[in-house]
Amino acid sequence: MAALMVILGVLWGATILSTALLRWNEVRYRKKELPPGTMGWPLFGETTEFLKQGPDFMRSKRSRYGSFFKSHILGCPTIVSMDPELNRYILVNEAKGLVPGYPQSMLDILGKCNISAIHGSAHKYMRGALLSLISPTMIKGQLLPKIDGFMRSHLSNWDSKSIDIQVKTKEMAFLSSLMQIATEESSTISETFMPEFFNLVLGTLSLPIKLPNTNYNRGFQARKIITSLLRELVEKRRASGQTQNDMLDLLINYQQNNIKLSDEDIIDLVITILYSGYETVSTTSMMAVKYLHDHPKVLEELRKEHMAIRERKRPEDPIDYDDYKSMRFTRAVIYETSRLATIVNGVLRKTTRDMEIKGYMISRGWRIYVYTREVNYDPLLYPDPLSFNPWRWLESGLENQNHFLIFGGGTRQCPGKELGLAEISTFLHYFVTQYKWEEVGGITIMKFPRVEAPNGFHIRVSAR
Ligand code: HEM
Repeated sequence: MAALMVILGVLWGATILSTALLRWNEVRYRKKELPPGTMGWPLFGETTEFLKQGPDFMRSKRSRYGSFFKSHILGCPTIVSMDPELNRYILVNEAKGLVPGYPQSMLDILGKCNISAIHGSAHKYMRGALLSLISPTMIKGQLLPKIDGFMRSHLSNWDSKSIDIQVKTKEMAFLSSLMQIATEESSTISETFMPEFFNLVLGTLSLPIKLPNTNYNRGFQARKIITSLLRELVEKRRASGQTQNDMLDLLINYQQNNIKLSDEDIIDLVITILYSGYETVSTTSMMAVKYLHDHPKVLEELRKEHMAIRERKRPEDPIDYDDYKSMRFTRAVIYETSRLATIVNGVLRKTTRDMEIKGYMISRGWRIYVYTREVNYDPLLYPDPLSFNPWRWLESGLENQNHFLIFGGGTRQCPGKELGLAEISTFLHYFVTQYKWEEVGGITIMKFPRVEAPNGFHIRVSAR
């Protein structure tokens, strides 16, 4: 009996203690504060300052509040993280509730099966399907020959012409992807598809106001036209029963654990591929042309690399995978272009539950802006950071460093990295071996919030 009393006493004591501990923890947790920072005006927050001042806004906040601060931008309460270690933590911890947090307008227009809109096992499945299309084996065997053929034709007849290289690289990124997706049909559908695709892209970057004549509305209409075009394409393919060696065929026949992709999955995956590789590949190519023009020594070295490849071949021989892999300096030029131009400022996440990061309390539903731009100009990582110096990438394994987030990191790291690099490298190959060029008029390049040439980027091209 006495023993029973002791046990009961101990249990009672333990219950009281654990309840008290829980309460204390609760109070302690509730007391945890948000990171430092300001939230600006009701509703608008600090969006105007952010868009007007751009990188300076971020830098001035960092000098006042440190590398992890709160704000209210683009319609959402947001934590900005400029801390390299925390950035990596956020990117690798999707399972803890740190999922992609792209604006609703983007998700609405890209579709509910779009890769950024799905998480967990659905994401794993769709990502698996995508990776099966763009793996190194696929690039080597199927995609590179197509990319080569496309670039040859896209860059033919530029001799003695004035062209807007911004327009040409945009068309290139879109048409090259479309040709890899639906090789036979791409030439017949591109005329309707391309202008609608450009409207869709503008819609994803707009304010979500569904009124006539807004970019958002035009983006929605474009999605409708594109999905019906793609649905018809998928149905015709299924009905034809013929096999074609392209992405669409692979998606129609894709199966994992006996699960096939639905037509909706296929359509949204096709849009994902077109969208994700579009602005990244086109803007990097355009900016490479700019930096090569401004740095003749770099152009000379790049040309040397490509002429050496050409000398081993007959004029009609395509670029093959070994050639692509041998383009070490070209890869360095592309990395240096991405770094200095900062094609991607950062990536967005949102919290699916209340959580603690760095001792601060972050509520469910807040955005986290993993802002990687400043890392690109860190003099400790990149000495003399404002100079265009591709050689820096050849010396040390910079691309394997933890801070290298040009292609993102963690579970969402860019699956199209090698494909994108192969496309830009092939473009540069035919551009620098066939042509020389000069800029026409002054070129204005806007670097924030997106890299673009608002008045176009005109060059006069002539054969070498
Ligand atoms: C220079 C070219 C490219 C750059 C700089 C780039 C950059 C990035 C970055 C930074 C991310 C991470 C986004 C995030 O974490 O939220 C990403 C994701 C992604 N990229 Fe790329 N990208 C490039 C080319 C491509 C191409 C050609 C494709 C074509 C398939 C592609 C497909 C994707 C997809 C589907 C994702 C989302 C992955 C996921 O959510 O699991 N990218 N890219």
